Amino acid sequence: MISLGIEGTAHTLGIGIIDSKKILADVRKIYTPAAGIHPREAAQFLSENFKKAIDSALKESNLNFKDIDLISFSQGPGLGPCLRTTATGARALSLHYKIPILGVNHCVAHIEIGKFLGKLNDPLILYVSGGNTQILKLKDFRYRIFGETLDIGIGNMLDKFGRETGLRHPAGPKIENLAEKGKNYIELPYVVKGTDLSFSGILTSAVNKFKSSKFSLEDLCYSIQETSFSMLTEVTERALAHLKAGEVLLTGGVGNNKRLQEMLRKMCREHKVKFFTPNKYCSDNGVMVALLGLLMYESGVRQKIEDTVVKQRFRTDNVEILW
Ligand code: ATP
Ligand code: FE2
Repeated sequence: MISLGIEGTAHTLGIGIIDSKKILADVRKIYTPAAGIHPREAAQFLSENFKKAIDSALKESNLNFKDIDLISFSQGPGLGPCLRTTATGARALSLHYKIPILGVNHCVAHIEIGKFLGKLNDPLILYVSGGNTQILKLKDFRYRIFGETLDIGIGNMLDKFGRETGLRHPAGPKIENLAEKGKNYIELPYVVKGTDLSFSGILTSAVNKFKSSKFSLEDLCYSIQETSFSMLTEVTERALAHLKAGEVLLTGGVGNNKRLQEMLRKMCREHKVKFFTPNKYCSDNGVMVALLGLLMYESGVRQKIEDTVVKQRFRTDNVEILW
């Protein structure tokens, strides 16, 4: 069964094609504004690139629409204008080519691609991205949230710090590079409550320190990473002790960060637990959407066009995991 997935919840237009267990195409077009994402401009970017991206993915996989058995798209969560643009494109293709359609949850897609590539069974999941920071584990057919941010997502915190300090969006990778040159640790608010976290204090404090001109940007980036990633490692370790998982999966865009990977890998080694991260599939992509659509379809999930309305606040634990 061949599944085509369309990701377009915010900044990335991703088209992925998979054939049951094999990735056949992975096309990504990324909107990189100078300062922060403007939802309407991002949606415009998605629609301008839609046809080109679909054509490239078909070319990459040597297929055409008559070979496609399923069209999946990210139904939420995400930015309203982006979600509507993506859903409209997916519906048009489904109706025109008479191919079944499925709207999928973006966060569950981030999890499933990690489980698939890492051949994991039942991992504890640390999902860290722009809008989300959650610790999850499968229980009674749902990915239950055992801990999460009480305010902003960690990626959002990094991107906002970048906006205040002149780093182009997305700032995460730039902060990672600058942090490597940092030498001095500057104290920032370390806020952990059980398995929940808060990042807004770090943002305010780091921005104020930057404006005071008393600290170098490199040292601030280093300190932001050390503080926030230690918080993430601490809550993951606490959840691991409670839930007794044998595997830890790191996924979502911030999962690309090598320093975060290093801290978690070390913690997992101490607990004799397997650690996995899907590397370039941590970031938004169409392959994860194609994969989740396929899993849902094979488990018997079907949707009519009326069921494909977008869900801006689609929670991870709203989805029944039937596979
Ligand atoms: P979600 O809806 O899952 O929140 P998203 O729109 O945030 O998705 P992702 O691609 O999952 O998209 O994550 C993007 C985030 O990842 C951005 O905040 C970006 O700064 C951050 N990021 C990407 N690479 C790195 C890195 N190397 N280090 C830290 N953060 C990174
Ligand atoms: Fe994402």
